[in-house]
Amino acid sequence: MKEIKDRILNDLNENIKKVANIQEFQVLKSKFLGKKGEISNLMKEISKIDKDKRKEFGAFVNSIKKEAEEILEEAFLNLKKKLKEEEEKKNWVDITLPGAKRRIGYEHILKQTIREIYDIFSSMGYKIVEGPEIETTWHNFDALNTPDWHPARDMQDTFYIKDNIILRTHTSPVQVRTMLNNEPPLAIISPGRVYRKDEPDATHSPAFNQVEGLYIDKNVTVGHLKATLERFLTMYFGGSRKVLLRPSYFPFVEPGYEVDVDCMFCGGKGCNVCKGTGWIEILGAGLVHPNVLKNVGYDPDEWQGFAFGTGVERIAMLKHGISDMREFYKNDMRFLGL
Ligand code: DAH
Repeated sequence: MKEIKDRILNDLNENIKKVANIQEFQVLKSKFLGKKGEISNLMKEISKIDKDKRKEFGAFVNSIKKEAEEILEEAFLNLKKKLKEEEEKKNWVDITLPGAKRRIGYEHILKQTIREIYDIFSSMGYKIVEGPEIETTWHNFDALNTPDWHPARDMQDTFYIKDNIILRTHTSPVQVRTMLNNEPPLAIISPGRVYRKDEPDATHSPAFNQVEGLYIDKNVTVGHLKATLERFLTMYFGGSRKVLLRPSYFPFVEPGYEVDVDCMFCGGKGCNVCKGTGWIEILGAGLVHPNVLKNVGYDPDEWQGFAFGTGVERIAMLKHGISDMREFYKNDMRFLGL
């Protein structure tokens, strides 16, 4: 009898060592403890046993069963522990490693520049308006006192879409649109893209950005214009900027000026950037020509105003020390802070 017990339990102990997963465990368990398992089969032998020995035999088989159950129970716990450890090893992560840093960029420098201009002029009560990039020649030239025959039209000739429809050459037509749709007084700035038949180089691009400004009121003088530009350039470039108005010609203003700012690099002493002059040209401006006022139905005897236009790339290049305008359009990630 003892041999039977030893054989069964040794067999179980031997096999349990080879079990690698729950499925194999279940197969082994039913081989020993199942209805058709070895121990049940042994129990069936009871009929062949002498009646008076049956009780003893039953107790004997039950003792094998009990031990087998204990062995299996312990093996099951060990197996579960082992599988859990393997799983943990596989999924191990070093939680002390620093996390992946997400780089957060910022707006492109041109967008930032336009936003800064918004902020400065908003603080002076200006409203922001936008106009179309596809424009009529009337809004772009004629209404701005630049008729067909006018030589100034050549300086800004551009991409024609069809007769009388062009890509705007400047943001000045937004002056016309604003005045046609609004009663004076008014103060607006208008940023946007403009187009010219220019070869790209360090300071030219066939598409670039301008900001237009227009102020219409009663008794507006060049003094108002100068003070406004001084404030704008001081807030934009920092320090305390001086403005120089040099008489110039734009058909839609009278008088008209090229506007210089004192060089922020040398403080006006003269350097490479200002080519030794101490001044940097930065804007076109003037008092709105009476013909322009008449073209939009304003009475020039009652209303006057000033207007100005500047290149966004130009002032951004100066502020950020960028020497070639084409850099803005190359998708250089550094312009996005990345
Ligand atoms: N529109 C002009 C240009 O693109 C710039 C300019 C000059 C705008 C004088 C103005 C102005 O409003 O008064 O060259």
